[in-house]
Amino acid sequence: MSSKIIDSVDIVCGLAWGDEAKGKIVSELLAKKKYDWVCRWSGGSNAGHTIYINGKKYTTHIIPAGVFYGIPSYIGPDCYVNLEDLDEEMGYLQENGFNTDLIRVSNNVIIITNQHKQEDLLKYKKQQGSTGKGIAPCAKDKYGRTGVRINDFIIKNGFRTKYFNPFKHIWCPEKNDTREIDVLKGNILCEGAQGFWLDINQGNYPYVTSSTTLPYSACSLGFPPQKIRHIYGAAKIYDTRVGTDPSFPDEMKNDEVLAKIGEVGKEFGSTTGRSRKVWWLNINKLVESINISGCTHIVISKTDVLDIVGVFKLYLDNKVEEFETLDDMKIYISECLNSQCDLLQTIIFSDSPECVEGI
Ligand code: IMP
Ligand code: MG
Repeated sequence: MSSKIIDSVDIVCGLAWGDEAKGKIVSELLAKKKYDWVCRWSGGSNAGHTIYINGKKYTTHIIPAGVFYGIPSYIGPDCYVNLEDLDEEMGYLQENGFNTDLIRVSNNVIIITNQHKQEDLLKYKKQQGSTGKGIAPCAKDKYGRTGVRINDFIIKNGFRTKYFNPFKHIWCPEKNDTREIDVLKGNILCEGAQGFWLDINQGNYPYVTSSTTLPYSACSLGFPPQKIRHIYGAAKIYDTRVGTDPSFPDEMKNDEVLAKIGEVGKEFGSTTGRSRKVWWLNINKLVESINISGCTHIVISKTDVLDIVGVFKLYLDNKVEEFETLDDMKIYISECLNSQCDLLQTIIFSDSPECVEGI
């Protein structure tokens, strides 16, 4: 394959602990710009992406948002896939009238088995507040080189025959299928999962996920880094954390103002329904995640939530700073980022759950 067939790659990534409204940015980009492929490069069904199409809310976990816009969508080799979960999500999309023939899964994906899920529920969910989707046990097998690739699994179990496909919605090609296999080409949008501080290398190990969530790892999809054009980072104007993490102690939930922010901001996990702990935006951490990710654009969402609650604070050099108004806080954040993030071209504040103006 020549690298010439890929024109450009844009990436949307999370800059915090997941749940930064990446889905909204992806949706806005797909509505405004021309993309030939939309891809997921990491994670599995532990993610939850919320997208509004014509005012209706949809949630996906593993399938990229291209499917909502009639664009081919690819689940790359560094993702983790449980076939039952994938089948269920395909069914949900089909029932809602979306064309799931556009979905392609890399042959090299390592599958999440039911044993992986059981081990996750018994061990990781209790100790670390994992989502219970089987990610860590599957990752152990993948890097221990005892995992099973999806292609081998399908062949071994004979699903590539007309008569035996236990999945209602997954298309398994016949053994002698001669249809051309798609390759990534043109303009590509990569959709991140989780966030910078959940990354296996950068996060508060072991309170992390078993994926590389930073944009560099989107290259695992099969393109050279030189093709990357824009990197859109997603953040919120306050921080949230779901799952165990000693840097977000449980006592935080007792703070009335923070609890109110969680309530107004509907801070409940879209995969697990658990309530997220809320803390003031840590501006030092945001600067670091922007700079290491190489963001050219950043969208800071949920400014409307702070406006409703009426308290404007952030965390700087281990101290809480307070502002009189939302505008004062936004100006301060912009100055901080403009002076410390040299690759950053655009800062957008967003107060709508459905769209991003100015992207
Ligand atoms: P796992 O990815 O299910 O193994 O969970 C590991 C940690 O990452 C737990 O603290 C989870 O709550 C967190 N986590 C995983 N996926 C997401 C996500 O999409 N949003 C927020 N937190 C997540
Ligand atoms: Mg999410």
